[in-house]
Amino acid sequence: MISNHRICFTGSEKMTDVAPRSVHLVVTSPPYPMIEMWDALFCRQAATRKALDNQAGLQAFDLMHRQLDRVWDELYRVLIPGGIACINIGDATRTINGAFALYPNHSRILSHMLGLGFTNLPNILWRKQTNSPNKFMGSGMMPPGAYVTLEHETILIFRKGGKRLFTTREEKINRRQSAFFWEERNLWFSDVWMDLKGTRQKTGRQKLRQRSGAYPFELAYRLISMFSVMGDTVLDPFLGTGTTLFAAAATGRNSKSYELDDAFGPLIKEEWGRAIEQGRQRIRKRFDGHLQFVRDRNASGKAIKHANRVYGFPVITRQETEMIIPLPVAVEQTMPDHFSVTYELPEPLGTGQASAVPKTSKPNPAGQLKLF
Ligand SMILES: C[S@@+](CC[C@H](N)C(=O)[O-])C[C@H]1O[C@@H](n2cnc3c(N)ncnc32)[C@H](O)[C@@H]1O
Repeated sequence: MISNHRICFTGSEKMTDVAPRSVHLVVTSPPYPMIEMWDALFCRQAATRKALDNQAGLQAFDLMHRQLDRVWDELYRVLIPGGIACINIGDATRTINGAFALYPNHSRILSHMLGLGFTNLPNILWRKQTNSPNKFMGSGMMPPGAYVTLEHETILIFRKGGKRLFTTREEKINRRQSAFFWEERNLWFSDVWMDLKGTRQKTGRQKLRQRSGAYPFELAYRLISMFSVMGDTVLDPFLGTGTTLFAAAATGRNSKSYELDDAFGPLIKEEWGRAIEQGRQRIRKRFDGHLQFVRDRNASGKAIKHANRVYGFPVITRQETEMIIPLPVAVEQTMPDHFSVTYELPEPLGTGQASAVPKTSKPNPAGQLKLF
C-alpha cells in the first residue's frame, strides 16, 4: 500500500491543481482574522491595512474574512458530494479605539459556508485549558466589567450535500476496513474535546514554528480517522508546519496541501522521518489502548461478543471485525514537494502469527527520508 502527498507553495484562493469533486475531506486551520500575529498577512491587502490603521474594527474583520471566503468557495468546488470540511478556528478579542471587542470568527465562517450550500454538522469545541493567571480579562473581581475567558477553539464541521455513498463492493470493504474502535467513537464523537495536548516541542526552526499557529497532530489524526476512509484524498489549504499532511500519511490517506510561505518546505522535509515514527507510535497506542479496554471490560464481567478477523482480539461491534490499521514504514520524495509513503499491512490470522498486531516498540528504520 502506498499513499501520495503533494504540497503547492502558493495561495489556495485558486487551487488550479485540484480537480472538481476530487477531495474527500478537508482538515484545516486558516490564519485567524483580528488576531495580531496574522495582521501582516491580511494587511498585504491595502484596504485591510487602512481599516486597521483607522481602528475600523468591524470593517477590518470583514475584509480579512473576504480573503478567506475565496478559499472556502474553492472547497465547495473540489469536495466530492458527501465530502466533509473541518475548519479549526478561534475567535479574537482585541482593543480597538480603546474599547474591548470580540470578533466571532467561527460564526463569520459558518455563515459564509452555509451561504455556499454546505450543511453544518454538529461542531466540536476544542477546549484549550490554560492555567495562566493572566488568562482573565477585564476588571478583575469587580462586577460587571470582567470578561469570560476564551479557552476554546471551534472545529466547524460541514458536509457538501447528503451522506457520502459507498456503492461498489471494493468501496464497501474499504469502508469497513477503515472503521475505528467503539471506545474511540465514544471519545472522538464527543462535542467537547478536553484531552488534546498542545502542539509538539519547538525545535531548531523555532521562529518559524512560533508563527505557525500549528494544531496538535492528534486533532488532525482524529478528524481524518473520523471522516475519511483509507486511500481518500485529504486537502489542507493552509498547511503551515504540515500537521494535516503527516496525519494523512499516518492514516493511509493521500493528501494535497497549499501553503503561501515556502519557508515551511525545508522544515516539512526535515520532519518526515520523525512524523512517520510519530504515526507508528500513535497506532501502537491505539492497539495498546484497545487491549487495555478489553482487559478492563473483561474484569468488569461484561461480555464482548465479536472478534476482529485480522488481529484476533475482541471488539464490541460487528462493524469493527474487519478493521485494519496500516502501519507507515518509509517515505520517499518522488518529485520536488511530492512524497510517497509505504505501509505494512497486517497478516491475516492463520498465516503463521498468533496475532497480527504490529510490534513497533523496537527502533524502526522508518525514520529515514529517502531522497531520489
Ligand atoms: C494557522 S496556520 C496553519 C497551521 C497548521 N494547521 C499547522 O498545524 O501547522 C495558517 C497557515 O496558512 C498560511 N496561509 C495564509 N494564507 C494563505 C493562503 N491564501 N494560501 C495558502 N496558505 C496560506 C500561513 O502562511 C500559515 O502557515
